[in-house]
Amino acid sequence: YPKAFLFDLDGVITDTAEFHYLAWKQLAKELGVTFDREFNEQLKGISRMDSLEKILALNPSLKDLPVEEKERLATKKNDHYKDLIQKLTPQDILPGIKDLLKDLQNQQIKIALGSASKNAPMVLERLELTHYFDYLVDAAKVSKGKPHPETFTTAADYFNIDYKDCVGVEDAESGVQALNDAGMFSVGVGNELTEADYLVEKTADLKLENILEQYSKWSS
Ligand code: BG6
Ligand code: MG
Repeated sequence: YPKAFLFDLDGVITDTAEFHYLAWKQLAKELGVTFDREFNEQLKGISRMDSLEKILALNPSLKDLPVEEKERLATKKNDHYKDLIQKLTPQDILPGIKDLLKDLQNQQIKIALGSASKNAPMVLERLELTHYFDYLVDAAKVSKGKPHPETFTTAADYFNIDYKDCVGVEDAESGVQALNDAGMFSVGVGNELTEADYLVEKTADLKLENILEQYSKWSS
């Protein structure tokens, strides 16, 4: 059995990946930049500032904005985002997630969050899920964001657990890469994540039994 499950938040536990997308789109519109969902895939799992840099790079005339202006734009995006998460309730937990958390708790497998978001603790509170988590890693606890493995290794190190005894659940390419580079078992949600050790189409397919079966094949 694995000893810990490490969960990404946005797009795995709840559909806040969509809210990040909408908030960036709103800011981009104000900047006269357009981008689509395909481009947005590159922003998933990436920190607020790094995401802003990628968006600014779409328009050469926005390349050399002063730091204060970038800070202002990042704050503006976050204001849009915070408006959107105001209305989050436990109803917004994605299908299958709560059962998975309960099953893990029953099996006494540790549960941690590994999120790039500074809003992560607040989102978990609104979903009333905080009590399931033995440890939270958010943007405040790491110096190198995904795809660097630090977000996930920080949780494993806290539990004092080998990386190969960890399972991570991710909806972003950057996150799957972080898990793979850490030597953890990566579970991808969404069809595009071909690098994942185990891929499911949607969160409702995240069944503990199936994950454990795949994990044991991988680890033997
Ligand atoms: C990640 C999201 O979880 O958090 C990204 O996938 C987001 O889209 C990043 O940019 C940072 O979030 P926040 O809430 O700190 O701006
Ligand atoms: Mg995500």
